[in-house]
Amino acid sequence: MLEDLEQIHRSASNEAASLPDETALEDFRVRYLGKKGALTSAAAQMKDLAPADRPAFGQKLNEIRSAISAAIEERRASLLAARDARAARGIDPTLPARSLPQGSLHPLSQVLDRAVDTLRRMGFALAEGPEIETEWHCFDALNTPPDHPARKESDTYYFPGGNLLRTHTSTVQIRTMESASSLPVRIIAPGTAFRRDEIDETHSISFTQLEGLFVDREVGLADLKGTLEAFFQVIFGSGTEVRFRPHFFPFTEPSFEIDVKLKTVGRAERWVEIAGCGLVDPAVFAAVCQSRGDDLFHPDRVTGFAFGMGVDRLAMIQYGIPDLRLFNENDVRFLRQFA
Ligand code: PHE
Repeated sequence: MLEDLEQIHRSASNEAASLPDETALEDFRVRYLGKKGALTSAAAQMKDLAPADRPAFGQKLNEIRSAISAAIEERRASLLAARDARAARGIDPTLPARSLPQGSLHPLSQVLDRAVDTLRRMGFALAEGPEIETEWHCFDALNTPPDHPARKESDTYYFPGGNLLRTHTSTVQIRTMESASSLPVRIIAPGTAFRRDEIDETHSISFTQLEGLFVDREVGLADLKGTLEAFFQVIFGSGTEVRFRPHFFPFTEPSFEIDVKLKTVGRAERWVEIAGCGLVDPAVFAAVCQSRGDDLFHPDRVTGFAFGMGVDRLAMIQYGIPDLRLFNENDVRFLRQFA
């Protein structure tokens, strides 16, 4: 009977090494090790042996079972290796890898992200408002009289119902104060503004603005100046000179334009106009009170400052870009330079 076992072992060993594929391997496993397999039936014969012979038989049986299992695993591994080798045929592993195309942020997004990050660290929270606005939010509430040039059909896109595409993000000042539940209000609002301009190197029909508003009980010019000077030091580098030039906006009093002294690529150092700002005009607070129906923003109780800047312009200056239109043309040769 031990002879029978040896016979099974021999034929199994011979066969295992030449099994052609996984299916044949599985079939082989069933034939030898399965419930009705050769080894299982051999084991059933153990009861016919004299008790004294059984341990030796059992031991042999176990040896052969593990030998066949090992042979199966070995064959499986070599089949797998052969398959890998077939798959790799024709591949030259010494070739440099093919690079995956990788996108990057648009230069405007990069400049805007940096400006927003900087102001958020200074305590400003993000706010937003709609691009389609009422005349009231865009002009009236911002103390802009009906005959103001900005309100003309030739400057502003109006819809038939009287609404318009906002001409600046200052609308978000009003929207934020309308819905605020307490003081202080300290927000920035990045967003698109629209003007009916002839398109050229420095004008477009839509552009990105970054608005800021800080309202509390005692906000003054020193706060405005300190905040914006610190901001432009971060954006243009510490030591950058900043000056405030008297100006006029209907919704701030006093109002200023901010210039920074810059050495831009390929040009001599010069003052560059970069933002508008001022202390919120009491008439704006009065309009907000009227709209809210309470006096949280009563002009006798609160003061504030606001500022607004063109992000496109900021980016043009930072990167020395001569033509605004490049931002919208999606020419990868241009965009790739900022990747
Ligand atoms: N809204 C002004 C503009 O578009 C900029 C500005 C914002 C000025 C806030 C003062 C205060 O030109």
